[in-house]
Amino acid sequence: MSIDPTVYTDIRNGMLPAHIYNDQEIFEAEKKNLFSRAWLFVGHESEIPQPGDYVVRKVLDDSFIIVRDEKGEIRAHFNMCLHRGMQVCRAEMGNASHFRCPYHGWSYRNDGRIVGLPFHQEAYGGEAGFSRKGARLLPAPNLDSYNGLIFISMDPDAPSLMDYLGDYTFFLDFYTKQSEGGLEVRGPQRWRVNANWKIGAENFAGDMYHTPQTHTSVVEIGLFREPKAEKRKDGNTYWAGNGGGTTYKLPEGTLEERLRYAGYPDVMIDRMKKTWTQEQLDVIGKNGFLISASSIFPNMSLVHNWPKVEDGDDVLPFISLRTWVPISENETEVYSWFAVAADAPDEFKELSYKAYLMCFGSTGMFEQDDVENWVSLTNTAKGSMARRLLLNGRMGMLKDGSNVVAPLTEDQWSAPGEAFVGYGEYNQRHLLNRWVDYVSNDEPVASRPITVGGVESECSAGDACDSSNATTGKA
Ligand code: FES
Ligand SMILES: [Fe+2]
Repeated sequence: MSIDPTVYTDIRNGMLPAHIYNDQEIFEAEKKNLFSRAWLFVGHESEIPQPGDYVVRKVLDDSFIIVRDEKGEIRAHFNMCLHRGMQVCRAEMGNASHFRCPYHGWSYRNDGRIVGLPFHQEAYGGEAGFSRKGARLLPAPNLDSYNGLIFISMDPDAPSLMDYLGDYTFFLDFYTKQSEGGLEVRGPQRWRVNANWKIGAENFAGDMYHTPQTHTSVVEIGLFREPKAEKRKDGNTYWAGNGGGTTYKLPEGTLEERLRYAGYPDVMIDRMKKTWTQEQLDVIGKNGFLISASSIFPNMSLVHNWPKVEDGDDVLPFISLRTWVPISENETEVYSWFAVAADAPDEFKELSYKAYLMCFGSTGMFEQDDVENWVSLTNTAKGSMARRLLLNGRMGMLKDGSNVVAPLTEDQWSAPGEAFVGYGEYNQRHLLNRWVDYVSNDEPVASRPITVGGVESECSAGDACDSSNATTGKA
């Protein structure tokens, strides 16, 4: 299997071979070279606050138990029994000190170590035949968290999560660290759409251009205080590290006035002022921008918006996290969480949840509008004509490659990365360039065997044999 290299050069040039949004070979290459390497979001620490709390999450074809062990460490165990490969944990979430395989009854502590093996003596001759010592559920090759967001990578040699996220963490804090108390999440809601996974990731990263057209009706029914769709062009798109997103331009005012304008109560504003750096506060107070949707390469997206939730003119902000988990080249499972500052007032939490449900999630109005486009795009990308079409992904760029508008200066943008006011597909190009970096890398990903008791594997001492990846997360 090899991808025609002109696919990569066209994408680097901002021209997108239409079939990349529905092609089996491309999807296989994404599985082999991209999802086997990148850091992937699997959940939030507040989903598993107590020892024994777990959720089961899939990373393409692999199922993982994400669990807080008795010592409070967060672990990601490959959900496959060491004996004959049965899925050990069948429930999607719960609390357990041990996991027992339904097939023959091997059992594992929640830190992954094997503890029970029926008829160990009779069947294996005891430790002589199968040594339980050191045998454990296979850990995810890499695991780490940032502000409670748990990521795993299938590449044992992946760069650190902090290096991977890079300067995008500056923006991640706006969503996930509005106070020292961090976030709490509800969900995820989970549903499937007949669309390629890249479309949603690109849309959330930088598609301000679709809002006035696709989401006209949301504005017409008065969900926002102002004709917000039209106002998108006054916001900017930014890219930093391995992620980027969009902002809205706020009316004139102080930091406090601008955060109140988005519906934040003073008690939350006071905490933000203590938690965020001066540069982070300046993005809002001095530059006048407030973050909206964004994406982290490859398939995590975030949203922040402030619709009206009750009669009257008051708005209320919400935050949502999501992943676009590929099922195939033309099907995606969406996981969507509501997120809110854990120490926000109760009334704020309730109204914020309502705001989220109105806009996003399986019932959200934006969601309905968007998916119609994405399914249609995916269907159209399947045919033979799509193989002859290069889509134009060069918005914001002149023919010679220079920019239509200049990037914001240091005075206009206190944040890292590059930002442009108005419509442009800078971020979609960043995402797709990153996509080319990964998908075109045919080097095999390191995958080391581990000892499963009894028979020696090829693994040498000190290698990943008894690797027990864990992260010490606080809920
Ligand atoms: S497959 Fe799990 S105990 Fe046999
Ligand atoms: Fe949209």
